[in-house]
Amino acid sequence: MKNKTNLIFLPLLLLSCGEAKVNPCFFIYDLNDNFMSSLKDEFSLALKEKGYEVTTYNASRKQSTQNTQIGKELELNPKNPLIINVVDRLSASMIIEKAEKEDTPVLFINREPLKEDCTKNSWAKENIYYVGADSIYQGEAQSEIASTYFGEASNFPSSRFDKNSDGKLQVALFRGELSHQDAENRSKYALEKLRTIGFEVDLINVSYCDWEKSLAYEEMKKIYLNGENVELLICNNDEMALGAVEYLKEKMDENTPFIDQFFPILGVDGTETGKQAVKDGYLLGTVLNDAYNQAKILSDIYLNIVENTPLPVYGEEIKINDNFYYVKGTKITRNN
Ligand code: GAL
Ligand code: CA
Repeated sequence: MKNKTNLIFLPLLLLSCGEAKVNPCFFIYDLNDNFMSSLKDEFSLALKEKGYEVTTYNASRKQSTQNTQIGKELELNPKNPLIINVVDRLSASMIIEKAEKEDTPVLFINREPLKEDCTKNSWAKENIYYVGADSIYQGEAQSEIASTYFGEASNFPSSRFDKNSDGKLQVALFRGELSHQDAENRSKYALEKLRTIGFEVDLINVSYCDWEKSLAYEEMKKIYLNGENVELLICNNDEMALGAVEYLKEKMDENTPFIDQFFPILGVDGTETGKQAVKDGYLLGTVLNDAYNQAKILSDIYLNIVENTPLPVYGEEIKINDNFYYVKGTKITRNN
């Protein structure tokens, strides 16, 4: 009798064992971050198609919270590759150490760990990955959009865009978080590009607005009330650009187009609201931060590790440097 029962249930048991998949875990620095939450959604969608249900952990911008979440998952499901949008990039080294002890691969996303932490030994070289944006390109692309709008740099001094007629381009810069590689690169390369194109850049205001709309709103208010002469506002992401727009809209006279009345504003990300603002003439342009392709690469790597599916060959819009993947993105303006 006993044997008979076992025989009947054995195949069922095997079937369910074979199908049981461990959930991929996505550790996000802040679920309220518009771009990151869209990236998380794209990733969940890509893996859902393969029969996985992604579990999300929100650190709400606290590294200590994230450390606890990661520690628990490592204990529960060692070997299940971790997808980590680390709160503080410098904590990556400690996370890598813990993961190595459990021989668990780590896929960092969007907040890039230091190269030396990822290449410190042969285990790390093989098991640590990074997927993010090509933020150097994104910064340069912002300036290309501005320069197309202003026209020949040599004509700028005599143009209507040089509002104070001093020959220089007065630029204000809203940066993301201090020490975030995307904020550093976008800022540096946007300014550098303007200069190589031939503009004489006068950087009149630099502020960190932590990627947040509300902080950018406040910063824009200060600049406006101080009566500063801004001729171009470059923002490291769309949310901050939209914060500036929100303040200026309150001051707007409905009869003049927004950009003519104030100055061109640029973002990065190409979120839904960002694209809409470009369409409506509030943003001069934005540069796509390609959540879809970043999520796709992430899920390709995850499946490569857990199911041994081969990695696809990527096109040239993706720069690959060992286990580091950088996705380029495209310019978004009213013309496209
Ligand atoms: C950037 C993105 C920002 C913000 C940040 C979070 O790549 O442009 O909007 O999401 O990542 O780390
Ligand atoms: Ca000027």
